[in-house]
Amino acid sequence: MNRLRDPQDRRLPRVPEPCALVIFGVTGDLARRKLIPAVYDLANRGLLPPNFVVLGFARRDWDHGAFEQVAREAAQAHSRTPWREDVWARAAGNLRFVSGSFDDDEAFDTLARTLDELRDTHGIPGNAAFYLSIPPAAFPTVLRQLHRTGMADNDKSGGWRRVVVEKPFGHDLTSARQLNRLVDEVFTPQDVFRIDHYLGKETVQNILALRFANALFEPVWNSKYVDSVQITMAEDVGIGTRAGFYDATGAARDVLQNHLLQLLALVTMEEPTSFDANEISAEKLKVLRAITLPKDVSTGTVRGQYLPGWVAGKRAVGYLEEPNVPEGSLTETYVAVRLGIQNRRWAGVPFYIRTGKRLPRRVTEVAVLFNKAPHLPFHPTDVEMLGNNQLVIRVQPDEGVTLKFGSKVPGTTMEVRDITMDFQYGEAFTESSPEAYERLVLDVLVGDRTLFPHADEVEQSWAVIDPLEAAWQGTKPATYRAGEWGPREADEMLAREGRAWRRP
Ligand code: BG6
Repeated sequence: MNRLRDPQDRRLPRVPEPCALVIFGVTGDLARRKLIPAVYDLANRGLLPPNFVVLGFARRDWDHGAFEQVAREAAQAHSRTPWREDVWARAAGNLRFVSGSFDDDEAFDTLARTLDELRDTHGIPGNAAFYLSIPPAAFPTVLRQLHRTGMADNDKSGGWRRVVVEKPFGHDLTSARQLNRLVDEVFTPQDVFRIDHYLGKETVQNILALRFANALFEPVWNSKYVDSVQITMAEDVGIGTRAGFYDATGAARDVLQNHLLQLLALVTMEEPTSFDANEISAEKLKVLRAITLPKDVSTGTVRGQYLPGWVAGKRAVGYLEEPNVPEGSLTETYVAVRLGIQNRRWAGVPFYIRTGKRLPRRVTEVAVLFNKAPHLPFHPTDVEMLGNNQLVIRVQPDEGVTLKFGSKVPGTTMEVRDITMDFQYGEAFTESSPEAYERLVLDVLVGDRTLFPHADEVEQSWAVIDPLEAAWQGTKPATYRAGEWGPREADEMLAREGRAWRRP
C-alpha cells in the first residue's frame, strides 16, 4: 500500500536542515559534560545532517587540533551511546574553533566570516544556533556583538538564526525582564530558546502524555479527588565547587523558580487545545498566574542549610565549611513551600514542594495523593494499614510511574494494605531515553519550541519567587544534618496540616 507520509507524524525522526551550532563558553563545564556529548549522541543516532558544524568560541588560544582533542575527551567521557570511532571521525571533521574574548570585535568579525564561509565549504545556507553557555553577566556583551556583526539577522544571513539561553534567566523579576528585553532586541521571540533542562527529561514530557492521552486520570485530577500534591527534588550532592554561584542564588532561585514550578505547571495546567508550543505555554502561564503563596511565609515555607553529616556512608562537610562559602552565610540549600492554585480545579488543594542538597539520595518525583474513600464498609482494624491512594511520577533516577492502592492481604483473615503497581521505563520499552540535552539541542536545531519556557512563563515564575525572597531576606535558615531529609521544621509544616512527607 502506498501511504503518503504525514508531515505532522511525530513518530518520524526529525533531522535538522544543514546548520551550525555555535557554542560560546565551549571550554566550560556545561559544554564538556552536556553539549558536546549530546552532539556526539545525536550524530551516533544519525539525527544530524551531514552538513553540520560545531563552532566553538572561547578565550583559549587553541588551534583546531587542541579543540578536537578536548571535544573528543568530553564526548568519550560523557556520551550516552556507545563510542564509535567512525562517528567521531566524521563529527571531528566538522569542528571549528574561534579564539577570542567577548569584547573582542575582531574575534566576532572572524566568527561572522567563518559562518559565511560555511556556505561554500560545507553547503550550510546561513542557518546557525548560538548557544550562550556563559555567565549571565556576559550575555549583554555577546548579544551586542551578535547584533553588531549582523550574525543575529535572519534576513542578512539568508537562513535562520536562533539563540539558546541557559538559566539563570535573571535573579528576580526585574532582571528577568531586562534580560528578555535585551534578547528580544537582537532576536525575534520565536528564535529564542530558553533552556530548562528538566523539560528535556523523558519522564517530565510523559506528564502530558499521562494526563492528556488517557481517559483514566483526568476525571480524578482535581480538588474533588486530590487531597494534596508533593513535589520532591532531592540531591545527595553538596554544592561542590560552585559556591560563587550558589551562595548568591540559593535553592529557591536555583531550582524552585524554574524546574519545580515548571513541573507544577505541567501537573496542574488545563488541556491545551493542541500540542503546539504556544498553546502549551498559554496553559502553563495561566496556571502559574493562579499560584497563591502561603498567607504567612514564616509558617508556610521552610528554608534550611546543611550541617556536617554522612551521606551514603561518606562524611560530608557542612555548607558553611564548603570551599569559598562566606562565613555566616544565610543562603538556603533546602527549601520547602506550600503553594495553592486559585482556580476551580485546584482551589483548596495544597501543593507541597521541596528541594535540597545533601539529602539521603538523588530522587525527583511528583506524588498525587488522593482523598480517602468517603465511606469504608470495613471494621476499622481491617483498614488500619490503608493510606491514601497515590499516583507517583518518578522523574528520576528510577524512571516510571507507581500507583499505590489498597488490596486484601491473602488468607482467611480480612486486612487491607497498601500495595503498588509499577511502570518502569527500563522494563516497558526497549529504547532508552535520550539525555535531556540531547533532546533539547535537537529541538533547537529543528526549531521546535515546545519544551522551552517562554519569556512570560519565566517572568511569572519570578513573580511567585520574589515575594518569598523578600520575606526571607536576612532570616536565618533552619538546619539539617547532611544525609537527613531536611530540617525538622519541614516535617512540622506538614504535621500541622495532618500530613507527612512521603519517603521517596
Ligand atoms: C541545575 C541546578 O539546574 O539542576 C543544580 O543549578 C542542580 O544545582 C541540577 O544540581 C540538577 O539537575 P539534575 O538533572 O541532575 O536533576
